[in-house]
Amino acid sequence: MRSRILTAASAAAMSLLTLPAFAGDPEAGASAFASQCQNCHNVVNDEGDVLAGRPNMRTGPNLYGVLGRQAGTVDGFRYGGSLVEAGEAGLVWAADDMVPYLMDPNSYLRETLGNNRARSQMSFRVRDEETAQDIIAFLATFGVVDAEEETEESGS
Ligand code: HEC
Repeated sequence: MRSRILTAASAAAMSLLTLPAFAGDPEAGASAFASQCQNCHNVVNDEGDVLAGRPNMRTGPNLYGVLGRQAGTVDGFRYGGSLVEAGEAGLVWAADDMVPYLMDPNSYLRETLGNNRARSQMSFRVRDEETAQDIIAFLATFGVVDAEEETEESGS
């Protein structure tokens, strides 16, 4: 199955129709990403260009196009079972899910799966909601997968 990556501009327009708006400030999000996320994550497009963070960072999954993507589905990344299970149960990353996930990944997975033994392999928490929203707005600038619309023409 192929999903379409929208450009940032059209994603912003589409978001009015299909996705909740991104409330945060992407510039503040860029610096928060650099200080809080890139120790474990990067953003690398399908051509292999490193758009944020460092090359060869594999502690956490590549976050390119994470918004709109089913949780736990980056090829070749070894996720924990709980996140994969949440994705299979229907978790597709939107801002509303990602904020509580970033603020407390274990609790978020426990609640989502209704299982007190669910565990996240991401051992990091964002302290405040505003920062989480800013980082999400930053991640959205790299494109939002519109899982509803599949197309053959885009190379993504
Ligand atoms: C200490 C390392 C570490 C830090 C710091 C970290 N993460 Fe993670 N992150 C991970 C790991 C490992 C996973 C995979 C979790 C699992 O398999 O349960 C993950 C998973 C994720 C996912 C789910 C991706 C998917 O494909 O479903 C998102 C979204 C995410 N992180 C965002 C962030 C953001 C945004 C930040 C910065 C605020 C951040 N992470 C900071 C290690 C980290």
